[in-house]
Order: sequence, then C-alpha cells, then structure tokens
Amino acid sequence: MSKDLSAAAITKGLKTRKIGRKVFYLPRVTSTMDIARSEAIKGAAEGTVVIAGEQTGGRGRLKRSWLAPEGNIALSIILYPDIESLPYLIMIASLAVVKIIESVTGLKAGIKWPNDILINGKKVCGVLIENEVRGNKVTYSIVGIGINVDLKVADHAEIATTATSLKDESGKDDLRIKIIRSLLTEFERLYLKLPDGKAIYEAWRNNLITLGKNVRVESGNQTIEGVAEAADEDGALVIHGADGTVTKVVAGDVTLREK
Ligand code: BTN
Repeated sequence: MSKDLSAAAITKGLKTRKIGRKVFYLPRVTSTMDIARSEAIKGAAEGTVVIAGEQTGGRGRLKRSWLAPEGNIALSIILYPDIESLPYLIMIASLAVVKIIESVTGLKAGIKWPNDILINGKKVCGVLIENEVRGNKVTYSIVGIGINVDLKVADHAEIATTATSLKDESGKDDLRIKIIRSLLTEFERLYLKLPDGKAIYEAWRNNLITLGKNVRVESGNQTIEGVAEAADEDGALVIHGADGTVTKVVAGDVTLREK
C-alpha cells in the first residue's frame, strides 16, 4: 500500500462534497490545530483539512502534549457549524473513527468519554475540538484527530502502557492513506446529518464503553466517583454516586474501574 501522503493522493477520487475538498499536507508542523485556525481566520472553505506528516508540538486536551511522530495520523478539519451543532462534533469525530477502524482493519474500537477511542482498553485515538464563538455565532470550529497508526507503542516509554496503535493491534502496515480517506468520507456522512443530531447521539451513546462502569472523574478541582449511568444529548456524563447523588459532568478525565 502507498506511503504517499500528498494532498493529491488523499483527495484523488474522494467522493465528498465538503470534507477534504481542499487538503493542506505539511510534512512537519508544530500542530495542525494552529495551521487550521489561521486558515479558518483567512476564510478557508468549510471542510478544509490540514494534515501533518509529523507534528513537533501536537497538543491534546487540558494542555497535554500529543505524540505524533511520522507514521501517525494528525489532522484538523475546519468547520463553520451552527452553535446548536457544537455538542455533536465530538460525537461525529469519535463515531467516524470507530466505524472506519472497524471497516479498514476489522478491529473493534469503543469510545471512552469524552474524547478517547480505545481498542482492547488502550488509547488509539484522541479528539480535540477548539471553537471560537462570538455571541451565539460560531466563528470556526477546528476538529483535531490524532490516530496511532504505524507506531510501535513499545518504542515510546511515555505511552507504552496506556496506548496502542493500529499496527500493534492488526499487524498491518501503511494504513494511513486508507484510514484518512475513509475517515473524511465517514465524517462527512455524519456531519451532513446536522442539525438533526438525534441519530448521531444515539449511535455515539451505543458505542460509549464508559456507560454502566464504575468511574472516577476528575473535573476541575472536583473528583466524582460512581456509576456512569447515562450520557446526555449535550454530551454530558451522568454519574450516580454510592450516596445517591447524581452529578452531570460536562468535561473531565475518566478512570474506568472494575465493578
Ligand atoms: C487528546 O486525546 O487529548 C486529544 C488529542 C488530539 C490530537 C490531535 S493530532 C491532530 C491535532 N493536532 C494537535 O495538535 N492535536 C490534534
């Protein structure tokens, strides 16, 4: 399979209307989020995608760094959604990743609330969404997706015990181009369903491995423990504590615990 990650190789014959009609491929950047943001400010078309061969300053949620050496997928998609559609973007990105991992590799992945995709309990993908909102109008949304593809996780001590890659799980090499093209196609299929997000929400909820588990959630300076009972359509996680309290969490870090 081709290792060619040029914009032309990504877009050739791609049957999307918006997502990936314009692709910027950059062999080495600090973060695709920054390039995408400056393209959005310059008025890039909706669906423009920025893809890096390698990121030197990739970032994740909560100001964490994101390791994205050569061989991984690091991309950002520029969108201009309605404000009502914002909660669905994380669902669309996560669902699209789960779906295409299965269709391309046959591997079963699941979504760990709020933004991790896991295979066999280990993280294979993270999603980062950065929005600029003025009043009740979204100026732009950047959906960043990082997937561990051709990475031998054991070679990277900092993620060796918590992460996995498509290569480690499937034994297959050079999946990047196929994964990217499938991802852009599936992302668009789901994105075009908006503003009606009900079906997206239901599919997302059905793929959440967090539900029904005992969890500990760090949210700001709060720690909440209990059973992750539900996930609302706005994306919030509902936790039922042992003392009967019910807490709705909109952002946080989840540790899954055995029951
Ligand atoms: C997380 O798990 O906290 C989110 C990780 C998101 C990583 C992607 S890689 C493409 C885009 N560029 C970045 O710098 N981050 C996102």
